[in-house]
Amino acid sequence: MDSDFNPLKSRMLFTTPQRLHLVSAWNEHVPFAMMLIELQQPRVFVELGTHWGVSYCACCQAAVATGSKTRCYAVDTWAGDAHAGFYGQEVYDNLKAHHQQYESFSKLLRMTFDDALREIPGHSVDLLHIDGLHTYEAVKRDYETWLPKVSERGIVLFHDTMVKDRDFGVHKLWDELSRDFPHFNFEHSYGLGVLAVGKEQPEAVRQFFAMANARPDSTRQLFSALGHRLQCEVEKKAPPQKRSLLQRAMDRLK
Ligand SMILES: C[S@@+](CC[C@H](N)C(=O)[O-])C[C@H]1O[C@@H](n2cnc3c(N)ncnc32)[C@H](O)[C@@H]1O
Repeated sequence: MDSDFNPLKSRMLFTTPQRLHLVSAWNEHVPFAMMLIELQQPRVFVELGTHWGVSYCACCQAAVATGSKTRCYAVDTWAGDAHAGFYGQEVYDNLKAHHQQYESFSKLLRMTFDDALREIPGHSVDLLHIDGLHTYEAVKRDYETWLPKVSERGIVLFHDTMVKDRDFGVHKLWDELSRDFPHFNFEHSYGLGVLAVGKEQPEAVRQFFAMANARPDSTRQLFSALGHRLQCEVEKKAPPQKRSLLQRAMDRLK
């Protein structure tokens, strides 16, 4: 199958994000996230696991730029976890200051994923990003408890689909779920799985899936190159002492 999808027509794919972070594994997926907001125009976006807010703020920025009128919710304890590491109040304070510009349509819900379930009506979430603890049990539980919140247009994003060491289990859940739904998996930057769980996807999203699955290698190369450019920019701008912070974080991941 071929498609009419033309990435050159996307404005968001080439937009410079306002918020990246030296040690976020999400920097390289930002071009896709911003383009997805443009294609999908989600009515409600929920993110489970926000930390410094790289993925979340990219979506908020794209919502403003495209006029998508998306209601956005970031859920996190902002305390950290066994994979992201535990951290202090400064992370939340830093994000909150940057996030002020989005407060008319976006909320930072500082609570557990389970507690946030009562804040969001059923079948309302068009875009759900699951990026909390990455064990198989945790990510499966996040998916199963939040699936009833997802709409008929729903897309679920899973970060870290390519990490197969330590006790990371997103890849295992991805193998199971991707048998049942239209999907595409980006393999760079630890992997990002895109799962179309809703039966009524907008035409632009259908066209993206058709193009991506017809030309998986070129699609992966395009998004990986655009993402890598952003990571290089962040690293170039970082002072030398911060670059060694990056090196230490990467060494921990190996
Ligand atoms: C991998 S980080 C998120 C990274 C982020 N999406 C980005 O763009 O860089 C995972 C976050 O999930 C949060 N988290 C994990 N499990 C949680 C839970 N059950 N409830 C609330 N927050 C949780 C942690 O506090 C941590 O900040």
